[in-house]
Amino acid sequence: MEMNGGNGDHLSAILVIFGGTGDLTHRKLIPALYNLVIDKLLPKNFTVVSIGRRNISEEDYKKGMYTALREHSRNKVEDKQWAKLANMLHYYQFDFTNQEGFAELKKYLDDLDQRANTGGNRVFYLAVAPEHFETIVSGLHASDMTKKPNAWSRLIIEKPFGKDLKTARKLNNKLLEVFDESSIYRIDHYLGKEMIQNIMVLRFCNSIFESIWNNKFIDNVQISLTEKLGVGSRSGYYENSGAMRDMVQSHIIQILSMVAMEAPVNLNMDSIRTEKQKVLEAIEDITPGFLRNNVVFGQYGKGIIDGNPVPGYREEPNVPKDSNTETFVALKLHINNFRWAGTPFYIRTGKRMGTSSAEIVIQFKNLPKILYFKDKEVQDPNLLVLRIQPNVGVFFQFNTKDFSTHNGIIPTKMDTSHYNPTQGNTPEAYERLIYDILRGDATLFPRWDEVEAAWSFADQIIRYRENKILNFPNYDAGSMGPISAFELLARDGREWWNI
Ligand code: BG6
Repeated sequence: MEMNGGNGDHLSAILVIFGGTGDLTHRKLIPALYNLVIDKLLPKNFTVVSIGRRNISEEDYKKGMYTALREHSRNKVEDKQWAKLANMLHYYQFDFTNQEGFAELKKYLDDLDQRANTGGNRVFYLAVAPEHFETIVSGLHASDMTKKPNAWSRLIIEKPFGKDLKTARKLNNKLLEVFDESSIYRIDHYLGKEMIQNIMVLRFCNSIFESIWNNKFIDNVQISLTEKLGVGSRSGYYENSGAMRDMVQSHIIQILSMVAMEAPVNLNMDSIRTEKQKVLEAIEDITPGFLRNNVVFGQYGKGIIDGNPVPGYREEPNVPKDSNTETFVALKLHINNFRWAGTPFYIRTGKRMGTSSAEIVIQFKNLPKILYFKDKEVQDPNLLVLRIQPNVGVFFQFNTKDFSTHNGIIPTKMDTSHYNPTQGNTPEAYERLIYDILRGDATLFPRWDEVEAAWSFADQIIRYRENKILNFPNYDAGSMGPISAFELLARDGREWWNI
């Protein structure tokens, strides 16, 4: 796995971060880079140029990053390791709305190439608000920074990739004028999480799971991403996004496609991404008639979280008092292919809920009501839970004899997961993703056709919501969402599992 040790010029690079003084760089990128230094996973010839508008010295910039690192790094910050990262780090003051400045930036990077022996390779990381993506890409293009003989350039785009299918297409076309699809890395940080990568391993390395991973054995699948956190200071972004764009169109759709995909013909990135994309194509048509009974939107009112009173969404700073933005979505959908037809997928995500957790629950079908189950009112089903966070690992429930009674049956719970609070919203996923970008492996980055299919799906639901009269707020902060989200499953004789 080590990248150090002279693997050749193709691994050398300058990482150019637009938004070098921003929140993402403080909380995720710098800690991720620091931990990659510790794990010796950065190329030997590697340097980072952080671009910001602020007039600060490089020394002060580094001091700020050191403070951020101490707050956000999962590993203890040691001076020796920090010195290695600090040596690679440069601050470049530049207002990228000034297109003329790009020529100077090019010169600066070319000079740095000579000093740092980085071979002309570039990673342009756009850690800025989406309205700046096009400006920066145009500037890079106009100053001839993206195509160099015998060198590569990669573009990293943070979420959100567009606001709907139309704007996403427009943005994509703009990017494609400058970068090839294979050089565009669209970040979905959930794909960097260990357990998300483990989905394929569990499925395709265990005959016990793969042979029953279908509608003959699986009763339903639940994907639930809940957060205790509210919208905090991000209302400007969230008001235009809501849970559908913020979580469903991106993270949930990605998880869904990994749970439901067919086995790829090999582990090459495009084989995997093609199978994921086919799942999205097979999602049942989402007509308004279907949505009427199968989607629930919610918005939190005030409530209590961990014993502390918290305001409702409409009371959050800068949120309009009559906002109809959804902070919760629950949805039932079907994947109409041979593997899944008839097995519902239930998804749920929300802010300010009673728990912070991300889990995939696979509920297996019940056995006939004979033998041991003849007189039992309720049968405990076999459940396989893939715990993404804060517990990370696998939980399995199966029935055994209750040794304390004559003929009793009890569910036994096997749990390989361990508590790891750092899996939530941390740089860890970014470590893996940055490492992959530097190696040129885009497996964990959604390809354009996946993004396009995800928007086609989400757009229909968002349009439906926009035309619906909503009775918000409809769930208390600290609860598990609106009553109608429970009724959605109860109607099918099912329930959400909180194991
Ligand atoms: C982000 C969303 O993509 O994911 C946030 O914009 C959300 O609203 C976050 O809080 C959740 O990520 P994690 O890693 O904490 O589950």
